[in-house]
Amino acid sequence: MSLATLRRRPQPNFPMTASYPDQAVAVLFSGGDAPGMNAFLRAIVRLGLNREKIAVLGVRDGYRGLVRTARAVNGDAEALIRLKNTIASHPGRAGLINDQLDLIQMDHASVSGIMGKGGTILGSARCLEFHDKEVRTKVIKLLKSLNVRALVVVGGDGSLTGARLLADESDLRIIGIPATIDNDLQFTDMALGVDTAVNTLVWAVDHFIDTARSHRRVMVLETMGRESGDLARMAGLASGAEMIITPEPGALTNVAMEKLAAKIEGAMTRGRGHAIVLVAEGVQFDPPQKRNRAYVLMDAFQQYFQRAGAPFPDLEVRPSVLGHLQRGGHTTPQDCILAARFADCAWKCIQNPDGGSGITALRKNVVEIVPYGEPDMPEREVFSQEMDRLHDDLSSW
Ligand code: F6P
Repeated sequence: MSLATLRRRPQPNFPMTASYPDQAVAVLFSGGDAPGMNAFLRAIVRLGLNREKIAVLGVRDGYRGLVRTARAVNGDAEALIRLKNTIASHPGRAGLINDQLDLIQMDHASVSGIMGKGGTILGSARCLEFHDKEVRTKVIKLLKSLNVRALVVVGGDGSLTGARLLADESDLRIIGIPATIDNDLQFTDMALGVDTAVNTLVWAVDHFIDTARSHRRVMVLETMGRESGDLARMAGLASGAEMIITPEPGALTNVAMEKLAAKIEGAMTRGRGHAIVLVAEGVQFDPPQKRNRAYVLMDAFQQYFQRAGAPFPDLEVRPSVLGHLQRGGHTTPQDCILAARFADCAWKCIQNPDGGSGITALRKNVVEIVPYGEPDMPEREVFSQEMDRLHDDLSSW
């Protein structure tokens, strides 16, 4: 941008003056962090400053930051004035480094250079206290007294349930943004963070293939995803993993595990040297097991491969629980783009005088606002089934 354009550009009347804004939109990140949260923060803040001329307050540590602040103010008028003054006198980075402050008036510099960074610079948390209606009532009161007319909640299932309760219990505009690597929100084709997590899993599988091939081993890798198998499915399809085990078909019995082992063994008989098995963390066993899925499967497979008269008694199985590695790392361009589109949609909804509360969703490549409590899209199940079919048809077994 040229200097002349910069000079011409109307500047917002904050935070140059150290006065607290007359109206604001607050944004918080809640639940498990997902890549793309920082890209979303950057987009919601920049669109707020550049286009809407409305201040954006970043909330530290999700709902927990709001609960802490509501408790500290506790309806006291002087405490509220002090809080407003502190927020106004610590904009942007000054607010971010002041760990006593849970509400930060974001500026351009505070969101500069964060787009591709995983995690969230504002922090995220799970807040059990928020299940309590009285606590939510205090938070609503606090937001109103801080001139907040809309709250943007970025997170997964539990976080969006909190957002729906706030929307039901207040006249504030509450906008939910689906962000979870699990892709278990059935009202949107994709949540923020999924694309990056799939990329990370493909990277991980590539590394495991190298060692699996060298040792002619079976590697069982456990992915995240809660009760949904979609993260494992997408990663399996994109990485070429030989086997994907998901929770949807039901609990795995010992016989079912033997059948899976037999399938691997059969492939080895036909000349296959190694196998990568992805197992989603939501997979259950019958009888139930307490250990991680990867370890249960390792034992079952190993036992089968070593049975009397087996063709490959030396075939070794190694487990790995990929865990929180899947939530970090550089955000993909797809997630950065989705973050910008969700932020744009959120602002349009906030600024629409006839609009209400709702959640942003990506459907058939269109970003739109849908009401809370939307029924599951049948297309999502079809998509999962299609991935399973495609994976089977692409197999060389
Ligand atoms: O919902 C995201 C997620 O990463 C799930 O896949 C996983 O089950 C859970 O969060 C882990 O949560 P925590 O970070 O509390 O261990």
